[in-house]
Amino acid sequence: MTTRRNVILGSVGAAAGLGAWWYSQRTPAPVPSTPFKPTADFPNRLRVPGAEGFFGVYDIGQHFTISAKAAQQAIVPGKPATLLVYEIEGEGNKVWRNPVLRLKKGGAVKAKHWNGLPDTSIIHWHGLVVDSNNDGHPHYAVKGGETYEYQFTVPNRAATYWYHPHPHHFTGKQVYLGLAGFFIVEDDDEIALQKALDLKLGETDIPLMLHDRRLDAQGQLVFNPTDEDKADGFLGEQVLVNWTPKPHFEAATRLYRFRLLNASNARMYKLAILNGKEPVEFQVIASDGGLLNTAQKAREIFLSPGERVEVLLDLRLAKVGDALTLASLGFDPMEHEEGPPGTEKKDEKKESKPADKSAHAMHGKADAKAADKGDKKAETKGKPDIPEIGVAMDVMRIHVTSKVAYDRAVPAKLSTVMPTPANCGTARTIYLDHEKMVWRINGQTYTHEATPITVKKGAVEVWEIKNAAASMPHPFHIHGFQYQVLERKGSPEQQKKLAVNAQGLAVTDLGWKDTVLVWPGESVCIAIDFSHDFYGNQVYMIHCHNLEHEDQGMMLNLKIEA
Ligand code: C2O
Ligand code: CU
Ligand code: CU
Repeated sequence: MTTRRNVILGSVGAAAGLGAWWYSQRTPAPVPSTPFKPTADFPNRLRVPGAEGFFGVYDIGQHFTISAKAAQQAIVPGKPATLLVYEIEGEGNKVWRNPVLRLKKGGAVKAKHWNGLPDTSIIHWHGLVVDSNNDGHPHYAVKGGETYEYQFTVPNRAATYWYHPHPHHFTGKQVYLGLAGFFIVEDDDEIALQKALDLKLGETDIPLMLHDRRLDAQGQLVFNPTDEDKADGFLGEQVLVNWTPKPHFEAATRLYRFRLLNASNARMYKLAILNGKEPVEFQVIASDGGLLNTAQKAREIFLSPGERVEVLLDLRLAKVGDALTLASLGFDPMEHEEGPPGTEKKDEKKESKPADKSAHAMHGKADAKAADKGDKKAETKGKPDIPEIGVAMDVMRIHVTSKVAYDRAVPAKLSTVMPTPANCGTARTIYLDHEKMVWRINGQTYTHEATPITVKKGAVEVWEIKNAAASMPHPFHIHGFQYQVLERKGSPEQQKKLAVNAQGLAVTDLGWKDTVLVWPGESVCIAIDFSHDFYGNQVYMIHCHNLEHEDQGMMLNLKIEA
């Protein structure tokens, strides 16, 4: 195990450009005679996408059927469990479950979705720019036994998108019980990067779906939200990665790409890769909507539900036998606190009182304190073993188990992100708050009929998303468009610390986004270009990606008028 060499591992990012020169200076590390044995804390080998089966890569081509249904799929090895899965059957008895869908930019998707669930359902392609008929709007949810036909092309840049159900009131439950998958789009910049760094999906380019779950003694999923959980979000007791509990990943002394997706219902993470207790440097290369202009060094990043971030981890200077831990560090969850002075609306305090008492009794300051100390498990009243948001949790162990020659450098330029010409001055305000246990957007909750936000097709708008001072962090998501984050205002200290520019943005705010974290008391300005090629009016949605908030109605229709 590692106890040293912070100096060396801490500087791996800086070595990224050294390539062959550096390598030729090296004395080969001795290869250990004993084979690798996992440690007791991370006994299970990480599930990575293979050619088929659970989590396998499915290259989209001809028309296919994707069914939502219950299936037997062990989560804890050796303990068969019932999971809801998206299933695709291919030729020669091949079956994919929750496949990593892959498509070239401009490619077509022709698919029949069969809902084999008791509840209504519909598939939403999170981050893809499609018309409202293909967007998985809850209005189009179909009953059990019924089908929905999709037909669209994907104009998006290469990025790590994802897909999940979107029926009103049931999204949280269906995602929690299994339904979610990656949707990877590739383009020329992406292929160039894969070539430059010798990246291969499933081997050295690893999608990591993070979500927290509760499992019973038989290894079955537990989903039994109380009223409190329904108000604040359902939390799990442990973080699964690609449905692997306590996972480890065996790596070689080279560079890896991890595509991180927070698919949790409600849990946010402050991700770091630890050498012992020391966060090592990694490089952020992409956010929700794909590659950044250039790689950005980082040691800590917040990732809220719905968001993706892609990182490069350089293990060239590591030795066989070294181990790192992907972890979520302790942070202040800022649930129902007073925000910075001057950010609170006049009567908000009064309105939020009843909710604070009844619905949020479980989110006390004691938990935040525990988080600060980085305790492994802070006990919540009546709910042992469910760590609150912000409590430090280990996620995955990375073992360096083999030595390889690797002589590649991260390209100086990854892609081109054209800035949307806009500034934070004249903005449409989107206000997030709550009243009597119900979270709202601009004082409203969702109905199928109402279209409270209407925008002219082709307009470039700036939105200022303001979170109430006494609130929770909300991951704010928009369907149908990728946007750019312009500025963070009134950010809490823990967010400010991660700022990489004068506008207060963190590396995870750069590039194109479809989901952005907004802390209590904070305002986030985003620029959205509402141009698209679709004919006629389109109705999308905006919502909080805390799935319990969304299900409860923290979601509004967004109408684009042609
Ligand atoms: Cu992943 Cu409507 O969202
Ligand atoms: Cu979405
Ligand atoms: Cu929310």
